[in-house]
Amino acid sequence: MELAPGLVPVAALLGTWRGDGAGSYPTIEDFSYTDEVVFTDVGKPFLHYVQRSWSPDGAPMHTETGYLRIPEVGTAELILAQPMGQTELAEGTIAAEADTLVLELEAQVANSATAKHVAATRRRYELSGDSLTTTFAMAAVGQPMTHHLRSDMRRV
Ligand code: HEM
Repeated sequence: MELAPGLVPVAALLGTWRGDGAGSYPTIEDFSYTDEVVFTDVGKPFLHYVQRSWSPDGAPMHTETGYLRIPEVGTAELILAQPMGQTELAEGTIAAEADTLVLELEAQVANSATAKHVAATRRRYELSGDSLTTTFAMAAVGQPMTHHLRSDMRRV
């Protein structure tokens, strides 16, 4: 199956990534987790994305899923469903800086009536060789845009 031509800039993301993460937010206790991200080519002009995480004792933590689109050169969109009652429309840029691929995305968030309120999110994915680093910040539960997560993964 040939990758859609528009997806060539993100071909290096394809596969499974796993590693350690750490989280914090002003309203909660700090925590650590194992992070896993899988990008899959489904033969269409987008990649399927799924993230899963586990606590240090192996219990499931957060998961999210969606689609990565590269609608035009230099532009990225991540369309996400969150199990806590949000959807995220994350839009931004994809750029190659030396040997590093960087995606920077800011999301509009829609919240269900019962969800903890998330007003906006900011994500950065940095791919260098077999290392993928992710950072995530959010404006949520009355807090301004503040760091929540960082994970450092390797290709598995
Ligand atoms: C690796 C991914 C993630 C992990 C491991 C994680 C973990 C946690 C933990 C342990 C808490 C505190 C306890 C709890 O309320 O469950 C928390 C709170 C929260 N997280 Fe995350 N989270 C992740 C991703 C996200 C994402 C993507 C969003 C938003 C789209 C998000 C939004 C929130 C919110 C709104 C709270 C509640 C804060 C509060 O009640 O004051 N989290 N998260």
